[in-house]
Amino acid sequence: MLDSFGRDITYLRVSVTELCNLRCRYCMPEQGVCKKAHEEMLTEDEMILAVRAAASLGIRKLRITGGEPLVKKNIVSICRRAAAVDGIEEVCITTNGTLLPALALPLREAGVRRVNISLDTLDRNKFRYITRLGELDQALAGIDAALGAGFEKIKLNAVLVGGFNDDEIPALAGLTRRWPVDLRFIELMPMLDDDTFGPEAFLPCGTVLERLPELQPAESDGGVAKLYRLPGAQGRIGLISPLSAHFCGTCNRIRLTADGRLKPCLHASAEYSLKGQDFDGMVQTLRSAILSKPSWHGALDAENRSHAGRSMNQIGG
Ligand code: 5AD
Ligand code: SF4
Repeated sequence: MLDSFGRDITYLRVSVTELCNLRCRYCMPEQGVCKKAHEEMLTEDEMILAVRAAASLGIRKLRITGGEPLVKKNIVSICRRAAAVDGIEEVCITTNGTLLPALALPLREAGVRRVNISLDTLDRNKFRYITRLGELDQALAGIDAALGAGFEKIKLNAVLVGGFNDDEIPALAGLTRRWPVDLRFIELMPMLDDDTFGPEAFLPCGTVLERLPELQPAESDGGVAKLYRLPGAQGRIGLISPLSAHFCGTCNRIRLTADGRLKPCLHASAEYSLKGQDFDGMVQTLRSAILSKPSWHGALDAENRSHAGRSMNQIGG
């Protein structure tokens, strides 16, 4: 379905839980989030109903996110049922990878075609620092499991943090030589209302081009990343620049939070609740949400923080 600015909305990101087994500094507060009452969250049946309603309006692609989607006990069943909905052509998942050793194969068999795995650093101590709770080896084991499970595409996501991982740009990019994966550098978005990151942490993606002059432009795949390739690499390098070059003009996505709120724009506070509605109600609400999608997210930088009104784990990365 077209929104009021002529963008064809075909992509729904579904957050299945706000909970996570890690506490990445750019995403979640240290103490985690208060677990919301069970009754406030969408049930599995409601999620699938929402996917059916969205598909009836032209949604073709789903991304399952969190929090960490793999901490959700019924994640395989959610993915299997979502992938079977008429009109849904592709189900992908975004994960921190730590639980993939047990879940990569079941998810692949459930019909998940692609996975995005977060990997901000290759240094054990820095991994512990940025995730507060994680171990690098768990994430690497997850990537290994994903490589073995036969997904059609694996992308690794590294959030660029000045003074933290900018010295690892060549090493992270070099993973595309070692594995058949794309590595995407993502500009840090100022989501949390605290002072975790100063202005120096917000590096434009252009930094990657400066550090890696050997990058060659590659053909766009229609996604939000500008694509490049290291000579001889198996996978591509993607640059995702929500701050330095926002992609709102071609944004084709809406989001559904784990507590059933549709968010037409990641960085806007407007929300439309689907909780407790039947199929027709959900279709109506989805239509209103799509028609209200703003043309862009407004200024976003270290001083102008996101108006999302929620932290990333409560929206879906
Ligand atoms: N800025 C940029 N990316 C973020 N993510 C989470 N929080 C932020 C943020 N503040 C992304 C990370 C992670 C995914 C789940 O969400 O890429 O891999
Ligand atoms: Fe968890 Fe992902 Fe947020 Fe890290 S970025 S705390 S892994 S949801």
